[in-house]
Amino acid sequence: MKHSAIVLAAGKGSRMRSEIPKQYMTLAGRPLICYALQTFQESFIDEIILVTGEGQEEYCRREIVGKYNLSKVKKIVPGGKERYDSVYRGLRAAEDCDYVYIHDGARPFPDADILLRARQCAEQYGACTAGVPVKDTVKITDESGLVKSTPDRRYVWQIQTPQAFSFSIIKDAYDRLFELGDFSGITDDAMVVERTLSCPVRVFAGSWRNIKITSPEDLLIAEQIQKKS
Ligand code: CTP
Ligand code: MG
Repeated sequence: MKHSAIVLAAGKGSRMRSEIPKQYMTLAGRPLICYALQTFQESFIDEIILVTGEGQEEYCRREIVGKYNLSKVKKIVPGGKERYDSVYRGLRAAEDCDYVYIHDGARPFPDADILLRARQCAEQYGACTAGVPVKDTVKITDESGLVKSTPDRRYVWQIQTPQAFSFSIIKDAYDRLFELGDFSGITDDAMVVERTLSCPVRVFAGSWRNIKITSPEDLLIAEQIQKKS
């Protein structure tokens, strides 16, 4: 069985409002993107496909892959305008693999256990995503902010990456998405499967440390997490 990871680093990081894209910002002495790549490098994963911004390929080859000896990064491909465009480019570069693990490069702290849970769940069910149960009460409102309902918190999850799939399922789902051309509201890969196939998607346990760096205060939290790990 061949296990491939697609690590996404082609975003602009507009909510971070930084000069350099957030995935290349320094976190405890290393570029942010290195953290997730190193975890995949040290895992059972056979091959990593790094999706970067157009024109950033050479920088990544030299300053990230070369410098940190990330020998499992076999391909560096340019991403696209939206996250789903970047994922699709990664999927088309992932040849003859059996399982795919799609991960946001902006999440520096996936760990070996999460990857193992992803593998087990993907092998059993074909489509799954990391998630943690919400801590806060969640409410659904209408456009004016009027509360419509309060979902039972036992069934509400904050979704993370990695999201793991059998290759045939996720490739088929993305092919259909691009055939149909309706990209409205697509924010993750599980959603692409939910929308295009009848295959159910499972949630497995992510971790509270597996945060996504989105805005400047997330970097402060990441530094604390990094210190304690
Ligand atoms: N991503 C990508 N290609 C895009 C958009 C996003 O590869 N066209 C990647 C980002 O690099 C990140 C992950 O998808 O690792 C999650 O996206 P997000 O946190 O939204 O990052 P950005 O899109 O870069 O940030 P923002 O939405 O604030 O602009
Ligand atoms: Mg984004």
